[in-house]
Amino acid sequence: MKAAVLDRYDKNGTTLVVKDVPTPEPGPHEVLVRIHTAAVNPLDNMIVRGEVRLIVPYRTPLVMGNEFSGTVVRAGADAGRFKPGDRVYGRMPLAKIGAFAEYAAVDESALAHVPGYLSMEEAACVPLTALTALQAIDLMEAQPGQTLFISGGTGSLGAMAIPIAARMGLIVATNGSARNEERVRGLGASTFIDYKTQLYVDELHDVDCVLDTLGERELPDEFAVLKPGGHLVSLRGTPNGRFAKREGFPLFKRALFGLAGRKLDRMAARKQQTYDFIFVHEDGAQLEHIAELFPAERPLAVSIDGTYALDQVNDALERVRTGHSQGKTLLRIEQA
Ligand SMILES: NC(=O)c1ccc[n+]([C@@H]2O[C@H](COP(=O)([O-])OP(=O)(O)OC[C@H]3O[C@@H](n4cnc5c(N)ncnc54)[C@H](OP(=O)(O)O)[C@@H]3O)[C@@H](O)[C@H]2O)c1
Repeated sequence: MKAAVLDRYDKNGTTLVVKDVPTPEPGPHEVLVRIHTAAVNPLDNMIVRGEVRLIVPYRTPLVMGNEFSGTVVRAGADAGRFKPGDRVYGRMPLAKIGAFAEYAAVDESALAHVPGYLSMEEAACVPLTALTALQAIDLMEAQPGQTLFISGGTGSLGAMAIPIAARMGLIVATNGSARNEERVRGLGASTFIDYKTQLYVDELHDVDCVLDTLGERELPDEFAVLKPGGHLVSLRGTPNGRFAKREGFPLFKRALFGLAGRKLDRMAARKQQTYDFIFVHEDGAQLEHIAELFPAERPLAVSIDGTYALDQVNDALERVRTGHSQGKTLLRIEQA
């Protein structure tokens, strides 16, 4: 089969090579999926540059790709949830990525059925960002009626996190680029702050929870708008000891992350707030929850920035790298 392969890490970025590799054989708990569409994320560029090796130490050569939609071809001996022909989608298991390929063998616990109203292209936009939003909201223990500030919510993460949070009954504020204000308000944001002309520290206070997509530089201001005892979850800040413990990392890594995240833990402790970093993991059951939150009568809307062929994978990665996207960047893999 054809797959996009990373031959070596390069901190300056490098090109993937599309080549023939053996089609994977599904293990007992796995399902062989014919990939229809894969989505490209900032995470893929981070993996290429070796920036997440401490969290996920993948060996090269590595078939790249973290999320996809596809069709079940066959199931392993002990995998019983899906049958051939089922439309499925998911975030590839952290331990074994590989969605930029014609086929992937995926643990069935990472998969969910695609809601009937989503096309396969639309479905590929959902898993990674939807799971990130659900896992962040879960960790915050956010309750309906509480306020949530999503920083940088005009990007692809916000496109999923805003409607999910709003559908779960949270009151959402976000900031980002002005040209996207109308769109994110339509997704469910009650408050919008243009980051080029307004400071959110002047506009927001005593927010119950913050979901940070911007990282280190913004964290002091994000803690400032958070209420005493509030919860901040970052997608881009420094991982801390709590993260390492949740992930079940060995002791030396816990100590390492504990040290790295100490400054942010202290920042949080000043007002009895909590600081957490998350690295989104696969979870088919959580994805099934999306279909319950967004039934056909009140569907989930997705936006697509552009679609590339597998051979154009490096152009797609470049598109994501340059930012300012209007939705997801997709790789259409199944040509038939
Ligand atoms: N840890 C995890 O598991 C996880 C999961 C998902 C995503 N992430 C991370 O989350 C981050 C966001 O992902 P994404 O896919 O949403 O990225 P994206 O699509 O590139 O969107 C970023 C958005 O932030 C806006 N922005 C840039 N600077 C800003 C500022 N100073 N204040 C407010 N808004 C600003 C951008 O506006 P412009 O158009 O004006 O640039 C853009 O709309 C990435 O770093 C990604 O790696 C992490």
